[in-house]
Amino acid sequence: MEYQAKELFAKHDVPVTLGIVATTPDEAKVAAEQLGVVVVKAQVKAGGRGKAGGVKLAKTPDEAFEHASNILGMDIKGLTVNRVLIAPAASIVEEYYFSFLLDRANRSYLCIASVEGGVEIEEVAKTNPDAVRQTPIDAGTGVDEAKAREIVADAGFPEVLTEQAVQTVLALWKVFVEEDATLVEVNPLARLEGDILEALDGKVSLDENAEFRHEDHAAFEDKAAADPLEAKAKAKGLNYVKLDGAVGIIGNGAGLVMSTLEVVAYAGEAHGGVKPANFLDIGGGASAQVMADGLDVILGDEQVRSVFVNVFGGITSCDAVANGIVGGLDLLGDTASKPLVVRLDGNNVEEGRRILNDRNHPLVTLVDTMAGAADRPPALANIEGA
Ligand SMILES: Nc1ncnc2c1ncn2[C@@H]1O[C@H](COP(=O)(O)OP(=O)(O)O)[C@@H](O)[C@H]1O
Ligand SMILES: [Mg+2]
Repeated sequence: MEYQAKELFAKHDVPVTLGIVATTPDEAKVAAEQLGVVVVKAQVKAGGRGKAGGVKLAKTPDEAFEHASNILGMDIKGLTVNRVLIAPAASIVEEYYFSFLLDRANRSYLCIASVEGGVEIEEVAKTNPDAVRQTPIDAGTGVDEAKAREIVADAGFPEVLTEQAVQTVLALWKVFVEEDATLVEVNPLARLEGDILEALDGKVSLDENAEFRHEDHAAFEDKAAADPLEAKAKAKGLNYVKLDGAVGIIGNGAGLVMSTLEVVAYAGEAHGGVKPANFLDIGGGASAQVMADGLDVILGDEQVRSVFVNVFGGITSCDAVANGIVGGLDLLGDTASKPLVVRLDGNNVEEGRRILNDRNHPLVTLVDTMAGAADRPPALANIEGA
């Protein structure tokens, strides 16, 4: 959220005014009493808040109260506003756009800068693409002062702002690298009266893979907005994404799980449009505990009617996975109540199938091929739903 991005900006000397976060109209009023003329700004993880009516100028504390009452609880792009930022109103002369981001297609970083920033930046990019400057950043050399000067000159920042712009670009690059971000965006980076450059908005996406070295980033998570099943899966260390279907999916390896989703969705078309309920990659260690955790999360999804376990035994062999399934079902006991279709292949498959056949669990159906198996869960989901 903006106020969090601004905290990171302040930490790395990007010029910014933090303001005060409020969760009630009364708090907004008290903040405005301290700050004077303010803007009341909806805090949600989405852009376009201004256009949605989530950014309002308040000349008096009573106005701040009033705007906060309207903005709190508002829906912006499907997100509920639970807090507002009360920021001192700035005297804006011009608005610029600036960002660093990960450019996956080119396997490098990219800087995007424009002196025609503000809420219409997407429109500018369409109608006047030359005004939106792109500079590839070599990941090895990064942004030094010379590169920052090149970026600032190319974007065409006014000369009086050159030194401030160069320092701001360097500071934003520090945010990008030191916080392990995949996006650092400022729109507007504003020229204020008196030729002062300041970041009036901020958006930062952090790389979750780097969480282990940023304990402080945990505080940025919006627990209220997180899906409860995703939160539960995360707490168990599972790689899970909730989707909007009826067939729970467990697989090993992101590629196999992705193709399983497609095959199930395709097979589901013949059963009234049954769809996968989630992505879940249990990775290499399909122990009984991991399998039980995965099943526990998936069976906790009220939309789920059947489950498809699709595992290709590699380093973790099929017998270990089969033991995981049996052990997982035992751990869950009566809470496991929905049919499971299991397809095992790969390393030590005969032993894996033998374990499942011997156990002969009433909920488990073993199927030999992925295509053959994929049709079963949608069919089961459909029967159960009918
Ligand atoms: N502190 C501020 N003082 C004055 N105007 C502001 C301030 N913050 C934002 N604005 C104005 O509101 C617009 C939208 O705000 P912004 O924070 O960029 O939200 P969003 O990008 O989500 O619409 C800005 O382009 C700017 O014109
Ligand atoms: Mg903005």
